[in-house]
Amino acid sequence: MKILIDCDTGGDDAAAITLALASSDLEVLGISTCLGNLELAQTTRNTQLLLAELQACVDLCAGSDVPLVRQKWVGNPNGKDLLETDKELTPPVGLDLLSFYHQKLAGASEPVTLVPLAPLTNIAKVILAYPDLVREKVERIVLMGGGIASGNTTGAAELNFYADPEAAQIVFGFDVPVVLCGLDVCHKAVITQEAGQRYFSYQNKYAKMLQYLLKRSWSYRQHGSFNGSILYDTIPVLYLLYPQIFTGLKGTISIETASALCTGATLLSVRKNDGDDLYDKDKQHQAIMDLDLQLYLDKIEAILAKAEEQA
Ligand code: RIB
Ligand code: CA
Repeated sequence: MKILIDCDTGGDDAAAITLALASSDLEVLGISTCLGNLELAQTTRNTQLLLAELQACVDLCAGSDVPLVRQKWVGNPNGKDLLETDKELTPPVGLDLLSFYHQKLAGASEPVTLVPLAPLTNIAKVILAYPDLVREKVERIVLMGGGIASGNTTGAAELNFYADPEAAQIVFGFDVPVVLCGLDVCHKAVITQEAGQRYFSYQNKYAKMLQYLLKRSWSYRQHGSFNGSILYDTIPVLYLLYPQIFTGLKGTISIETASALCTGATLLSVRKNDGDDLYDKDKQHQAIMDLDLQLYLDKIEAILAKAEEQA
């Protein structure tokens, strides 16, 4: 499966990229960065640090540093480097975002899956610039963002959609299938320290990175409301590899852009049957709502175990 990742690296984005690179079933054609939880300069540097430490040769493009139309909003404007490395950093490619995506999509000989893990600013720009190319080359978009039942940045909105709701609405309004891996499923994917110990017996570079990221996350979240760590952005990657461990709802998803209180909220009109007025047959959305936690933990280990064999 050929994928393009868009991210605002951060610990859980880094875990998702690590697992994607570790899996021989995914080919990461490129990575773009966006502002989001952190400023663009920091998300780009964090991605460079990660790729250097993993010694991964993947083209990296620095994307948007402001949302499509709104004032800039960043979750943590004072973010620090995600990790230290003694390896040399590779600079981002010398292409702007649109040229980067044009090159990657036009050059793809097989369908590509977009995997956005950040505000959807970059992806919306690509759709607006090259709608026909995206229709032709992008098979589907499998993203982390939103939440049907609740938000985490406001009561209504999840961070990635809150930061750029207009961009999110452009993506859901476009006619490429979208799988939403939002807070509903992520909040069920808690990795406790006890459960995560199983990953510490592996020695390959991907396992070592995941161990570092988990330890870091546990140290941050030990007083939080979840008894463990949630690696939100790993959910789309696991969904791509093991869709059978997830369940969801089909329907039409819209993102609120006009309301003061509910900006960035995810609205799902559930498909009850083909005659249902709420369901727009031209749109193909799926909201992942639940997962088998035990299998999620097992499959992460399976990725690390296979990487260990191949090391
Ligand atoms: O709300 C979760 C999202 O915001 C994830 O993509 C995570 O990386 C954070 O930035
Ligand atoms: Ca993210």
